[in-house]
Amino acid sequence: MSDIFTVIAPVNIAVIKYWGKRDEELILPLNDSVSATLDTSVMCAKTSVCARPDFNEDEIWLNGKKESFSNPRLQNCLREIKSRATAEKTVDDTFLSWKVHVCSQNNFPTAAGLASSAAGYACLVTALAKLYKVKSDVSSIARLGSGSACRSVYGGFVRWHAGTNPDGSDSIATQIADAKHWPEMRALILVVGESKKKVSSTKGMRVSMATSDLIKHRVEYCVPKRTEEIIKAIKEKNFAQFAEITMKDSNQFHSICLDSYPPFVYMTDVSHYIVELVHKYNDFCGEPKVAYTFDAGPNACLYLLEDEVPTVISLIKHAFPSSTPDRFITGLDIEEGSLSSEVLNNLAQPQAKDLIKYVIHTKVGEGPTEVNSGHLLSEDGLPVEL
Ligand code: DP6
Repeated sequence: MSDIFTVIAPVNIAVIKYWGKRDEELILPLNDSVSATLDTSVMCAKTSVCARPDFNEDEIWLNGKKESFSNPRLQNCLREIKSRATAEKTVDDTFLSWKVHVCSQNNFPTAAGLASSAAGYACLVTALAKLYKVKSDVSSIARLGSGSACRSVYGGFVRWHAGTNPDGSDSIATQIADAKHWPEMRALILVVGESKKKVSSTKGMRVSMATSDLIKHRVEYCVPKRTEEIIKAIKEKNFAQFAEITMKDSNQFHSICLDSYPPFVYMTDVSHYIVELVHKYNDFCGEPKVAYTFDAGPNACLYLLEDEVPTVISLIKHAFPSSTPDRFITGLDIEEGSLSSEVLNNLAQPQAKDLIKYVIHTKVGEGPTEVNSGHLLSEDGLPVEL
C-alpha cells in the first residue's frame, strides 16, 4: 500500500479575469489572466490521497459527503497525472493499476463565488502528484479540473497564459512574483451571500462566447494591454496602477455578463454599494487606496495595503452594521484605527443590518504545501470522520 499524502492549497482571486474558453474539453481560455494567491492559514482546501491493491474502485469524499468519481473533470485530472507518471517513469505499472481514495475539505463556503473549486483542484492535483512522484509543472493538469485552479498551483502573483497550442501544452501558469515580493498586500473578502451561484462559470462563459460582442473587444484589445500593465505595476509595487486596472477589469467582466444574451448578473445591490463606497473612499484619499474585484458571485474581494486596513475596516463596519459584531471580522488580526465620525458619515450612510455577513482578512501567500499530520484518511484508507 502507499503512504497517505496530504496537501493544503490556496484560493486565488483574479485581478485580470478569465472569462471564455477556446476549448471546453481541455479548458483552454480565450485570454491570459492574472491573480494573487491567498494565505492558506486563513482559507484553504485540504486533500488526502492514497492508493492500495485492495481498493475496489476509485472513491472520493468531499466536505464529508461521498461523491461520484465519474465526474469527467476528476477523471481527466487522475488520468493525466498517471500518464505523466508513466512518461517520467516515477512508479511501476502495478502501482498505477491500484485504485485511489481521495478525501477533501474546504474551510470556507463552496460555490459561493469564493474560488473553492480552484483551491480544491489545485489541492487534488498536487496531492496526486506527490502520490505518483510527478515532478514536472502540474498547473496544466489542475486546469483540467477548473480553469482558475491552475493559478492556485503557485504562490504570490500568478499569470495563466492562454497559450496557442491546440493540445493546451502551453496553457500553463507561471509565477510573476513570489509571496514575499509585496508583503504589505492584504485582501478583505466581504461575504455578501453564501448561496450557490445561479449561473455556473462554465455556463456563463458559454453564453458570453456565443452572444457577446464586447467579449471580442476585451480579448483582442483590453486584456493584452492590461496584463502587461498590471504585471509592471506588481513588479514595481505601484498600488494606484494595480488598483485601477483591477477595478476596471472586474467592471468589464460584469459588463460582459450583461452584454450576454440572455443576460445574467452576479453582483447584487450590496455589491454595487461596495463599489460606490470604494470610489468615495479613494476620492477622499486623493488616489486609489483600495481596489474591488468580484468573481461569479456577489462577494467582494478588496485588495489594499496593510496601512489602510484599520480605516477601511472602520468604514465597512460603519456602512454595514452587523448583529454579531464580535464575529464580523475573521482571519488575520487587525490593529484598531478609525476615521472620525464626521468623515464616516460623509462617506456612507449606515445600511440595514447584516447585508455583509462577515469579512475575511487575509494576505498574499504561498502555493500548495504537503503536511505530515492531520490526514483526512485513516490507515485503512477511509475518511477519519466516518
Ligand atoms: C469569474 O475556473 O470556475 O472566477 O474553468 O469552467 O471551471 P471553469 O471556470 P472557473 O472560472 C472562474 C471565473 C472567474 C474569473 C477568474 O477566476 O479568473
